[in-house]
Amino acid sequence: MNLFTPFESRDVTARNRVMVSPMCQYSCEEEDGLATDWHLVHLGSRASGGAGIVMSEATAVTPRGRISPKDLGIWSDNHAEALQPVTEFIESQGAVSAIQLAHAGRKASTNRPSDGHGPVHGDRGWTPVGPTADPWPYADDEPLATERLDTDGIARIVDAFADAAARSVEAGFDIVEVHAAHGYLLHEFLSPVTNTRDDAYGGDFEDRTRLLREVVTAVRNTVPEGMPVFVRISATDWLPDRDSWSVGDSARLARDLERLGVDLIDVSAGGIHPDQQVPDTGAHYQVPYAERVAEGGVPVGAVGKITTPEGADALIRNGRADLAVVGREHLKDPYFAVHAAEKLGYDAPVPRQYTRGF
Ligand SMILES: Cc1cc2nc3c(=O)[nH]c(=O)nc-3n(C[C@H](O)[C@H](O)[C@H](O)COP(=O)(O)O)c2cc1C
Repeated sequence: MNLFTPFESRDVTARNRVMVSPMCQYSCEEEDGLATDWHLVHLGSRASGGAGIVMSEATAVTPRGRISPKDLGIWSDNHAEALQPVTEFIESQGAVSAIQLAHAGRKASTNRPSDGHGPVHGDRGWTPVGPTADPWPYADDEPLATERLDTDGIARIVDAFADAAARSVEAGFDIVEVHAAHGYLLHEFLSPVTNTRDDAYGGDFEDRTRLLREVVTAVRNTVPEGMPVFVRISATDWLPDRDSWSVGDSARLARDLERLGVDLIDVSAGGIHPDQQVPDTGAHYQVPYAERVAEGGVPVGAVGKITTPEGADALIRNGRADLAVVGREHLKDPYFAVHAAEKLGYDAPVPRQYTRGF
C-alpha cells in the first residue's frame, strides 16, 4: 500500500490517496453563494493536477450558515446547477469530486480574511445561530448578537443538511463530507466549551453528539447507498485547562459514526475558542490524532502540514492514515500529486494534453 494505491469506499474508487483539503475561497462574486469561474478553475486545476479526491470548500447548507458573505452555498437548486460544471470537469480529469457541507454556526457573518476578518455588522451581515446565545468572542470587535437554536431550529438544520446532500448528488458529486470541525455549528454542539444546553441536545456525550448523529443519519438516508459519507472533526479543542472536547471523545464518536454508515473520518483539530493552546504545528502535527481515531477501525484522513511526496507516501505506507489530505501545499502547487508521482517513481496522472511537459 502506498500513496498511489487506489482508495476504495463503497462504489467510489479514487486513483490515489491524495485528497485536496477543503479550503474556503470566499469567491462568490454576488454574495449569493453561487459557484463562479473561480471555483471551476480552482477545483478543476487540482483535478488536472492529479489528486485522487478533489474536495470543495465549506459549502453552506443555508444562507446563515456561511462564514462570510462571499462563501459558496448549496441551499437551492440553482446552487447545485452552478456546481455541475465543476463536478463534470473533475470527473473528466479522472478525479473523484467531493463536497464539504457546512454550517458556520456562531462563527458566521464574518469578513473574509483578505477583508480583515472581524464580524460583518449591518445590512451585509446577519444573525448567527448556535447552541446558546453566547456569541463568538472577537478580540477587537463588538460581538454579533447570536440566536440560540430551539428544537424546531435544530430540526431545520438537520433538514438543511439532508436537502444539501440531495442537491450534491444532483450536482454530480461522488462523496459528501459533513463539516463538524473548527468551531462551526456541529462542533459547537459537540464541545462542552460551547454547548451548555440542558435539553436533549446538551449535557453528556450522548446529548452533545445527538445533532451530529441526526445530521449524519439524515445525510446517509438521503444519498445513494454507494456514495461515501465522510465527516471532518476537530479531534481536540486544544483547551486542556477546561472541560473540553478531547481525542478520546473523538475516538468514541468515530465508532458511533461508523455504525451510522460514515465511511471516513477526516481528522483536523481546534477552532472552538480563541483561548485554544495550539501546540507546535510542525510537519504532520495532527497525524497522531488520526491514528488515535483509527484505533476503532474506522478509515481516516490525516491533515496538517503534509507538504512533501515522501511524507505523504510514508503516512500511507506505514498505515498511519488511509488518505493524505493536503491543504496549503495545493495552493502553492496544484500539481502536487503529479509531482509526487514523478518524484517517487509511480505512474504520474499527467493530463493527456500536458504529457510533453513531463
Ligand atoms: C485558505 C484556507 C481555507 C480553509 N478553508 C477550510 C474549509 O473550508 N473547511 C475546512 O474544513 N478546513 C478549511 N481549512 C483548513 C484546511 O482544510 C486544512 O485542514 C489546514 O490548512 C491544515 O492543512 P495544511 O497544513 O495541509 O494546509 C482552510 C485552510 C486554508 C489555508
